[in-house]
Amino acid sequence: MSETAMGVVITGAAGDLGRALCASFLASGFTVFAADVNPSPAEGRLVPVKLDVTDTAAVADLAARAARETRLWAWINAAGIFIAGPVVSADIEGWQRIIAVNLTGTFNGCAAALPVLIAAGGGRIVNIGSISGQLGGIGVHPAYGASKAGVHALTKTYALEGGRHGVLCNAVAPGLLEGAMSSGFSENQRAKMANAAPLRRLGRMEEIARVVHFLTDPENSYMNGAIVPVNGGAYMPS
Ligand SMILES: NC(=O)c1ccc[n+]([C@@H]2O[C@H](COP(=O)([O-])OP(=O)(O)OC[C@H]3O[C@@H](n4cnc5c(N)ncnc54)[C@H](O)[C@@H]3O)[C@@H](O)[C@H]2O)c1
Repeated sequence: MSETAMGVVITGAAGDLGRALCASFLASGFTVFAADVNPSPAEGRLVPVKLDVTDTAAVADLAARAARETRLWAWINAAGIFIAGPVVSADIEGWQRIIAVNLTGTFNGCAAALPVLIAAGGGRIVNIGSISGQLGGIGVHPAYGASKAGVHALTKTYALEGGRHGVLCNAVAPGLLEGAMSSGFSENQRAKMANAAPLRRLGRMEEIARVVHFLTDPENSYMNGAIVPVNGGAYMPS
């Protein structure tokens, strides 16, 4: 009998961080359900899934499918949107869109993942938060930081409930990273943010993916409900 492959669902899988995450889980032999509104093409054990994370029923369907086709072990909520611009002109449409994708989308993922991971005998959920959820941010729609603070709180609730069932839930809170999302800022703003970190540079996607990978590892058997800052030392909560 062939052994059941280990499975991971990654939302926002076609984005900069999502691609780094897919590469890292493919390299570890996982079947990767790579979910995105604009999915990447199939490749090896990468299964592209066209998914809008705001569609609650579709997210639940994906969880059921992933649990049917693999030993679903981990679920990573990385889909997110960001709107750069002056806070004084932030509008309600931006607020609603950001909250829907970043916060409700992450809730949809956690809510779909928890019961199937419990039924499978345990697993890991990792949410992608942000330093903006800890500090707020200038030059970014206020919904962004609010949505990520919500993601951090959601993470703790799912850690409290999931931990009792062997499902550990953590978040990473990256600082500003190289890639498409940060290109919404001017060169000058990016340089200022890079200099705010003792490491004097933006983060790289692989540096976040490595921490996420550790959080999903069975070797991580006791970190639960943590909001792990991966920001080059720009903010060091105690
Ligand atoms: N890039 C940064 O500087 C940075 C910093 C902190 C946190 N983050 C967070 O990291 C995560 C990944 O960001 P990234 O830098 O890879 O951005 P990205 O824009 O490169 O990727 C985001 C991906 O999410 C997908 N997406 C958007 N709306 C979706 C929806 N409704 N349903 C499904 N997929 C959807 C997009 O198609 C895209 O592929 C996000 O949650 C982001 O908020 C990024």
